[in-house]
Amino acid sequence: MTHQMTFRGGTVAAEPGQSVAAALVAAGILDWRTTRKGGRPRGLFCGIGVCFDCLITVDGVPDQRACLVTAADGMRLGDDAETGAAPEDLGDGRNGGAARA
Ligand code: FES
Repeated sequence: MTHQMTFRGGTVAAEPGQSVAAALVAAGILDWRTTRKGGRPRGLFCGIGVCFDCLITVDGVPDQRACLVTAADGMRLGDDAETGAAPEDLGDGRNGGAARA
């Protein structure tokens, strides 16, 4: 049975066992958040839970890695501009990135 999730006012279908990220990409949605600095689009990158590019709010819980969350019927998906920035976008040297002045 195909699952139905909501995203930005629309419906996204997912097959059982499919990740949220896979379902979004299959629906043609390639980015679902933007970075705090620069507003750059982010979506699926590594696909294995390492890069944190795919952060998304799932059922009101922010900063979930879409590539690791298994899609379920009735899930509410949304971007989270305030808390969805990846650590390397914080510009403070965390996550191995260079600190910005
Ligand atoms: S795509 Fe890299 S953590 Fe999800």
